[in-house]
Amino acid sequence: MRWSEINSSGSSVFNPKKITVVGAGHVGATAAFLAAKNELADIVLIDVIEGVPQGKALDMYESSPILRFDSAVIGTNDYADTANSDLVIITAGIARKPGMSRDDLLSINAGIIADVTRNIVSHSPDCIILVVTNPLDAMVYTALKVSGFPKHRVIGMAGVLDSARMRAFIADELKVSINNVNAFVLGGHGDTMVPLPRYSTVAGIPITELLSPERVDEICQRTADGGAEIVRLLKTGSAFYAPGASVVQMAEAIIRDNKRVLPCCAYLEGEYGVNGYYLGVPCKLGAGGLEAIIELDLTEQERAGLAKSMQAVAELVEQVDGFGLY
Ligand code: LAC
Repeated sequence: MRWSEINSSGSSVFNPKKITVVGAGHVGATAAFLAAKNELADIVLIDVIEGVPQGKALDMYESSPILRFDSAVIGTNDYADTANSDLVIITAGIARKPGMSRDDLLSINAGIIADVTRNIVSHSPDCIILVVTNPLDAMVYTALKVSGFPKHRVIGMAGVLDSARMRAFIADELKVSINNVNAFVLGGHGDTMVPLPRYSTVAGIPITELLSPERVDEICQRTADGGAEIVRLLKTGSAFYAPGASVVQMAEAIIRDNKRVLPCCAYLEGEYGVNGYYLGVPCKLGAGGLEAIIELDLTEQERAGLAKSMQAVAELVEQVDGFGLY
């Protein structure tokens, strides 16, 4: 018997879409694996370290007969293999090591993001970029400036993760199905994030009606400390399962044109009184990337929280502007 290959378009036999994940560390590998498993696209995992993306990609592909997904997964060190990606998830960067200041992290990761972004843009000029690298709000800003892309094609992942943590804590507290719980978190991805209990619900009922103000405050605080709680436990790194799942939910909304409303890190030009910074706000994601920003009326206290969050982001962005990367 002879088998003649019909597909000559250069795309995979299985998927019309292509997603590149930059960075084959824990977050990147988790995102690549979930995106492949969900058959969102063919996946290219790229990293500067030789062998690691290739090995992890092959390992993922070898799980496909068991998990039954028809997605190609390849690993590479060469940006040529990422050409014409529809969506690129950037997780590359280093985590803070002992003795390093936040500023050291900022300048090293801004340099990495600038370099990655230039490579991505030259091979996939029409892609949508999702940034995961920390400090998130400043890194996604760097990607926007370096890429020269419009704001609807450069989006950051933070709010999905932060609100997923809050949802998990609420479900655990009330012993209800996670499927009944929604939560909303605004602001920067850091200590100054702004959980919104009055928009956080169980089957539509605000948690403020179900829990004491003290318990609500504790859940909000644990949410804001969510990343640090994992770091404290792991000791040698930070979270990756929930961050990986979060960015894949955003990718899915875009690839499948779901029009999902999710909290995302978006470039604001006047919305929420913020101009020229990225901040976490409710967004609609679809095939066009960031298709709408939803503006809520905030209480005095919430507005103050958001202003404080913006101040923290502005301080980082000011430093990034001084690095001469764009
Ligand atoms: C977290 C870090 C990785 O929130 O941003 O887990």
